[in-house]
Amino acid sequence: MRLDEPGLERWGERIGSTIQAPVVIALEGRLGAGKSVLARAIGHGAGVEVPMPSPSYNLLLRYPASVQVDVVHIDLYRIGSPDELWELGWSQLGEGNEIVLVEWAAQAEGFMPDDHWIIGLTVPEDELLLRDIEVRRMGHPPELPAFPMSVSVG
Ligand SMILES: Nc1ncnc2c1ncn2[C@@H]1O[C@H](COP(=O)(O)OP(=O)(O)O)[C@@H](O)[C@H]1O
Ligand SMILES: [Mg+2]
Repeated sequence: MRLDEPGLERWGERIGSTIQAPVVIALEGRLGAGKSVLARAIGHGAGVEVPMPSPSYNLLLRYPASVQVDVVHIDLYRIGSPDELWELGWSQLGEGNEIVLVEWAAQAEGFMPDDHWIIGLTVPEDELLLRDIEVRRMGHPPELPAFPMSVSVG
């Protein structure tokens, strides 16, 4: 599936507003692929009303999204080694009522929880304003909403 930026944002907002927490979603793709764009859209869909800056230095930023749900936005690009995961409170992630969004989840090596989604974003060679989206289910995470067919491209 190929989406333009507004289409990706609409889909992300729908994920945030409909998904059943707790859930863990890994966002994959090279720098500039749109991982943070999608993370922000999911956060805003879940009810986060403040800006969501990139967690590339803090590694983890937590936002109350609604009375019950927190959005946890993680970016592991700069993590030195998986040991640092435990300082982030990694062992409890996704146990409470949280939507956990992990950029560069591959840096967590084998430490992702059994049940999670992987959303891969790639820039097509000839279409720099579109993103190819691939969704993979690991274990049994709660259902993701379907793509917004009305705004998809290609
Ligand atoms: N279809 C698209 N989906 C997402 N981002 C897009 C799209 N087209 C262009 N962009 C641009 O690509 C960039 C993605 O940046 P960002 O989300 O920070 O990437 P990442 O977090 O993967 O490094 C933004 O500048 C955004 O405006
Ligand atoms: Mg990013």
